[in-house]
Order: sequence, then structure tokens, then C-alpha cells
Amino acid sequence: MGCCIVGCGKGLPALDVTNDELAQLVETSDEWISSRTGIRSRRISVEETSLDLAEVAARQALGWDGEGAGIQGQPAFAAEDIDLVVFSTLTPDALLPSSAALLRRRLGLTNAVSFDLNAACSGFVYSLSVTEALMAASQANVGGAGGRNHYHRALVVGAERLSRITNWSDRNTCVLFGDGAGAVVVEWRDDAPGIISSYIHNDDDTTNSLVCPAAFDSSFAFDEQGVNAAFAQDPALLLADASLARVDEELGVAEGVAAGEPRQAIRMDGQKVFKFAGNALTNAVLEVLERAGLTLDDIALIVPHQANERIIKFAAKKLGLGLEKFQISIAHRGNSSAACVPMTLCDAYESGKIAPGDKVIMVAFGAGLTSGAVLYEA
Ligand code: COA
Repeated sequence: MGCCIVGCGKGLPALDVTNDELAQLVETSDEWISSRTGIRSRRISVEETSLDLAEVAARQALGWDGEGAGIQGQPAFAAEDIDLVVFSTLTPDALLPSSAALLRRRLGLTNAVSFDLNAACSGFVYSLSVTEALMAASQANVGGAGGRNHYHRALVVGAERLSRITNWSDRNTCVLFGDGAGAVVVEWRDDAPGIISSYIHNDDDTTNSLVCPAAFDSSFAFDEQGVNAAFAQDPALLLADASLARVDEELGVAEGVAAGEPRQAIRMDGQKVFKFAGNALTNAVLEVLERAGLTLDDIALIVPHQANERIIKFAAKKLGLGLEKFQISIAHRGNSSAACVPMTLCDAYESGKIAPGDKVIMVAFGAGLTSGAVLYEA
């Protein structure tokens, strides 16, 4: 018995931006980007919100778009049967309510508890691991007098509009990211193992190698003396929030902001992140295998976070695997953070690379520094 993946879907914005088009914005080339990253184009949302993309992915995963639940043989699920929504994003449309609550309302999931989870690019893997743990804990309660919520079927989503926090004049970062959403439905079944093992992990980002400060653009009414008298007279006055400088200092971004860059933008030390990513991916795969008592020979497919094709190649070499063991979907999407793994999983199902009974590993890494993996039987 276990938490089984029974539906999947993805939602992508309409606009496709090629490397040649990016070369109109920054000094770069298709040759540089594709050879260093494997990326040729990425989807950028112009009109679509994170929630719009998530809704498309979720409807597909629930089987509401007329084609079943995205996994062969899976019928559609009823709205009232979903009792949990976990939504992973670092680019929500709103701070309140959560994206999960907004998605719950749009889809009419009236029996669901909903919350967001931010673990950067590892967000979806963290969400699945947390969902499985909640389900397993609630199963232990079934029929007993336990005082917990009961979870039987959950919608787990990763959706991002990284284009909103990308500095489009920074060639070190803007060529890497894209927008999108992916979703899965998971269900507790008594007759299948589902998720066999999971591993979520944190290292410290001691050098601020991957950060993005939050931007709050409302005015502030207070200073060290209390209510600011000038503001009390004229609430249209734009008062600086003295704590912002301290946030920037903590994140090591003061210099960039001072140079006139957008404050709320991804800043990255590419080489440091690359080194962390390659090792984190490898370690997470080995950890879930060990926890499951399995070896790489037992695994049919690895579905990795899609940050850079070279990171996947590095990990493949370290693990002694051929690239055919990995689902690689980076060429026309780039890195869409928490949305990457569920979208890539959908690609694998769509192309028939996952058959019932196959053992699959999803693995991710990201800012924080977070990493993790989930091993399941399809
Ligand atoms: N086009 C052309 N040149 C570029 C460029 C671009 N888009 N971006 C950087 N360069 C230049 C650099 O300025 C540097 O020039 P210099 O030698 O004159 O200083 C040169 O290319 C090499 O830069 P470097 O940083 O050594 O390249 P790289 O091979 O490490 O590749 C990344 C850069 C960002 C693609 C790579 O480090 C990476 O993928 N890191 C991990 C990023 C990641 O995964 N982030 C998300 C994690 S969830």
C-alpha cells in the first residue's frame, strides 16, 4: 500500500522565446546558450498568471480536459474526492490568499485543505514528500480514534512565472529561465506501493549563490520614533522601509541594487550553483535508493530538475548511467523551478517511457540550498 501517482498534467504559456530573440536583449548567442545549457527556447507568460498555468495542469491531471488523467487508463477524478492541495511556487500571483486556496476555489475542490510550499526548485519534490507523509500518517488513523485530518487523494502542483523575477538585462541569468506549471494527482491505494522512499535535504547557501529579495512597493508609515509625522499628514508620501537595506545585506545583493538593477530579481553565482547541483542530484538519487533498499539497476527512469543539461550529464557520469535513463525536456522550456519536475514527468508518460510497475526517481535541487528525491513504483 502507498501513495500512488494516478494523474499528471502540464500547462505552458503560449509565447515561445528563442535564443536568437534573447540575443536582441543581451549580448549572447544561440550557440553559447545551447552549448552551455541545452536550452534553445523557453515559454514566457505574457497574459497567463501562475494560477492560469496551474489550472491547465491541474485540469489535465484530474482528467477534466476530456483525455483522462494524463496516465494511461486513469479515469477522471471528481472534485469532491480531492482532500488536499499542495501548491509549490516561489512566484505566486498573490501573497494572500495562497495559490493553493485560489486553485481550490477555481476548481471547486470544496473538500480540500490547501497550502503553499516554497522550497525553490526542489518545491515539487518537497511537496510530494510532505503529501506522502501526511497521507501515511492519516492512514494510521483510519478506523481509530486519532485526531488528525484524513487524506486520501491530493493534488500536488508546481507552477511558476520566473519571467517576473528575471533581470532581462543580465545575460548570466535571463537565458536560463522559463514559465510553466505541472501537476499530479496522488491517491492512497492498498494494493500498490506507490512512493517507496523519499529524501529531502538542506545545505546552507553560505555565499548567497542564488537569491532574490522580495519587493514590497507599498509606502511605510513608521520610523524609529514611531508614527512618521510627515506620512500622517500626507499618506501619498513614499517612505522608505529602513529594513530593506538589511535584507539586501543579508542576501549580499546591496551592490547590485545600488547599480540600478531591479531589486526583485534572481541573482546567481552560476559556477557555485553548478557545483552544488551536480553533487546534490547525485547524492539525492543514491539516498532514495538506499532508503528503498534498491540499486540503480532497479530504476527504469530518472526525472531530474531541468536547470542545465550539463548538470544532468555530470550526474549521469558520476552515477555511471547512460543519458537514456534520464528524461530530458530542457530544450524548449529552460528552468521553470518547481514546475520542472512535474512537467518533465508528464513528458515521460506522454512518450510512453513509464510503464506500470516501473520504478522511477524524481530528483531536484535549488536555492536554499535545497535538494531531494522521490522514488515510486508506477
Ligand atoms: N551569453 C554569452 N556569454 C555569457 C553568457 C551568455 N548568456 N552568460 C555568461 N557569459 C560569459 C561570462 O560572462 C563569462 O565570460 P568571461 O569569461 O569573459 O568572464 C563566460 O561566458 C563563461 O562564464 P561561466 O560562468 O564560466 O559559464 P559556465 O560554463 O559556468 O555557464 C551557467 C554559466 C550559468 C550556464 C552555468 O554556470 C550554470 O548552469 N550554473 C547553474 C545554474 C543553475 O542551475 N541555476 C538554477 C539552479 S536551480
